[in-house]
Amino acid sequence: MKALTVEPRCPGSARLEEIDEPAIHSGSILVEAVAVGICGTDKEIIGGAYGWAPPGRDRLVLGHESLGRVLDPGPISGLAAGDLVVGIVRRPDPRPCPNCDTGEYDMCTNGRYTERGIKERDGYLAERWRIEPEYAVRIDPSLGLLGVLMEPTSVVAKAWEHVVRVATRAFWEPRSVLVIGAGPIGLLAAMIGVQLGFDTHVLDRVTAGIKPDLVRQLGATYHAGRVPDTGVRADIVFECTGVGQLVLDAIGAAAPGGVVCLTGVGVDQQGVDVPSGLARAMVLNSLVVLGSVNANRRHYRRAANRLAAADRSFLERLISRRVPLDRWQDALKREPDDVKVVVQMAPV
Ligand code: BGC
Repeated sequence: MKALTVEPRCPGSARLEEIDEPAIHSGSILVEAVAVGICGTDKEIIGGAYGWAPPGRDRLVLGHESLGRVLDPGPISGLAAGDLVVGIVRRPDPRPCPNCDTGEYDMCTNGRYTERGIKERDGYLAERWRIEPEYAVRIDPSLGLLGVLMEPTSVVAKAWEHVVRVATRAFWEPRSVLVIGAGPIGLLAAMIGVQLGFDTHVLDRVTAGIKPDLVRQLGATYHAGRVPDTGVRADIVFECTGVGQLVLDAIGAAAPGGVVCLTGVGVDQQGVDVPSGLARAMVLNSLVVLGSVNANRRHYRRAANRLAAADRSFLERLISRRVPLDRWQDALKREPDDVKVVVQMAPV
């Protein structure tokens, strides 16, 4: 079968190749791949900046934003042939640390977790894959191709869950949210903000095109340009770019008692001087800055509810481009109105 593989840390090594059918030890459920979403992490792995091959191997099968159709549900999954499923990305570390031991592997503390398509485990960018029942999540069949948005939505659902837990540490009712960066993660964070009843603002660089339009379709307010110029002071800020200056701007835009959630790792790693007033502003305003990554099974369930409640036409527009597996390189090229690009391997 065909799969997109890469030698991690070796730029330019990605290629489509014939590999063996998935080994039975990788899970009792056999799945036909329908689509895989491409994100910044995939681009980093292909660019040689991130990723780990499985032990004893040089190459890794890419792909972690999955959508597939069950071919053989195996003996114990409770699934049926034809069900649409998404595969959870992370697996707990073997030790396991207390968080992995209790199913919170998204919070692994010893770093020995593995991730499909990213860290030491083959991903889902292959014509067929296998998965263990506890890591397969059935999706509402009416979502169809939109199910490929489940993984990024799970990441955002986890971030929102943690933010709300922190935000409720005091007698305080957060009402406004600012999202910095209108990529898929930012737009999904804004979507959940609107669903939760927040006055939702989104900032990005672009002044026209699909992003401002999608934000307005959500019922949120779009801002272009610099964060301080918006005049927005938000109770909750999601910083989804990882760009140093924007991280500082995110903290500056938080209202007293606010929570700033960082979800982006950023590509520009130029040093940003930490302003001397930062600690003072954070202490005197009781701000919390938290980082959020990955998601456990609970968050996939929450994501499923969020996607079910979402405006389908908004989700359809989020998937701005689909490319066939043979043209995977096109998925990496940035086109003006790209939001989420997916590699589609089979009809839904
Ligand atoms: C994935 C997460 C993963 C993270 C770090 C992200 O792109 O969505 O599941 O934990 O990369 O590897």
